[in-house]
Amino acid sequence: MTVSTGPIEPAELLAQIPDFEQALAFYHRHLAPDTAVDLSVAENVLVYEDSMQKMVFDHTALLPEEYLHYFSAYGTPQLRARVAALLAKAFDAPVAAGDVFGTAGVGSALECLAFALQDAPKPDEPGPPPLLEGDAVLLPAPYWQGFNWSFEQRPKLECVPVRLPTEGPERFRLSLAVIKEAYFRYHRLNDKFPRLLVLTNPHNPLGVNYGKALQEEIYAWVMDETEMHIISDEIYAHSQVHGVRVPFTSALALDAYRAHPERVHVVWGFAKDFGLSGFRTGFVVSKYGPVQRAMLGTKGIEEKKHPMSWFTPFDSLKHYVVGSVLESTVNGSPELYTDYAMRRYKDLLSESFEQVKDRLTARDIPFVHLEGDNPAQFFWLDLTSYLGKRPPVGAYTLPPLPITANSGDLDPDELWLFNYLAAPPTEVSLLPGGTMHCLAPGFFRLCYTARQPEEVCAAVDRVAEALSQLVIVG
Ligand SMILES: Cc1ncc(COP(=O)(O)O)c(C=O)c1O
Repeated sequence: MTVSTGPIEPAELLAQIPDFEQALAFYHRHLAPDTAVDLSVAENVLVYEDSMQKMVFDHTALLPEEYLHYFSAYGTPQLRARVAALLAKAFDAPVAAGDVFGTAGVGSALECLAFALQDAPKPDEPGPPPLLEGDAVLLPAPYWQGFNWSFEQRPKLECVPVRLPTEGPERFRLSLAVIKEAYFRYHRLNDKFPRLLVLTNPHNPLGVNYGKALQEEIYAWVMDETEMHIISDEIYAHSQVHGVRVPFTSALALDAYRAHPERVHVVWGFAKDFGLSGFRTGFVVSKYGPVQRAMLGTKGIEEKKHPMSWFTPFDSLKHYVVGSVLESTVNGSPELYTDYAMRRYKDLLSESFEQVKDRLTARDIPFVHLEGDNPAQFFWLDLTSYLGKRPPVGAYTLPPLPITANSGDLDPDELWLFNYLAAPPTEVSLLPGGTMHCLAPGFFRLCYTARQPEEVCAAVDRVAEALSQLVIVG
């Protein structure tokens, strides 16, 4: 047996990363830090550079001693109160501090919910029967691939895509009809009904907000006709540009939520809107007894359980860093930095979106977007017309990019296009739609907040140049 003595090479580590998006993040950080531009990963560099560094972190002392010790795993009362106040503004709805539970990232918050919903409500509590291992979770697709990790890996639920149309006037639009179709189809095939519906609002990767009327219709049907819970992932809640036609409406602001607070659960975190992805901070917002008891670890003496968050804690470093962001005020004024930052973020996001949209349009790169729709942090590029095309023979050889993880399921032409754009001389990584359960090949997610707008526009120019070389072969 050979035992390796030296450090493991980044290329070896890369080959072990099971997820395409995370492999790309690793590749760009460790193997190609100065060359290729990564617009595939959902990152947001706008807020830190604009204000967070100078208004928060320049004044944040090195770690004070109190942060070396144990903290409440789901957040101190002060932290939960501050987060509740922040979310109440974003959601335009009351949020009680006691309903907010911190975790180590929204991925973990989702997993905590998936476990907690497998606990039964008490006899005097409203709520449907508990979920069981193997129960189905409906997710409008395309969707963020991490839902599979959160729901399937340990809680052992099964993710079932709700297939949004990929063609025609309704392409990629959510409706109650498509949810119902998936719900009854699953029942026909499995002789049981799905038990959980997960909506991402604003959506990743489509960017759109779900309007109030559409949500009320969906929620009312779910509450009246099914035994499903609904999780609304609102991690991109603040990612709103100016002048959208369909404003963001949180699940917590719905009439259906007021009627059935026990069946609606919201998650949010600092990774996207505040660009603090590395800290891994997430929050469950829920009034449901079994969820609250799972998060608090108060299941009763006879059934001693540790708080769910003990295993995925909102730890002392998160308290310190995120606490600094939440407590800071703007240049000695009483205005909270978070209010200022999210106001600025809206301006920065709108400017970046407009610049990149104009560049994509000028360079004839098609994307799925209805005028006035919110884009959150993404463009959903429609490169279907380039599938199967190649550069003229002899003009180009494709050096393989060392991203092999999880690419086995991808449509070969979509993977070829990804590699072609990621390789020199273009060196732009976009996320293939197939990694996000998109039904049709040829769609790619471009995250326009991953770099400053000038850099994104320069990358768009290179992508346009590369696409213009492609011709129909054979
Ligand atoms: C919709 C959605 N939910 C959750 C997450 C994960 O959040 P976190 O990094 O806080 O675990 C992401 C990350 O891309 C996401 O897009």
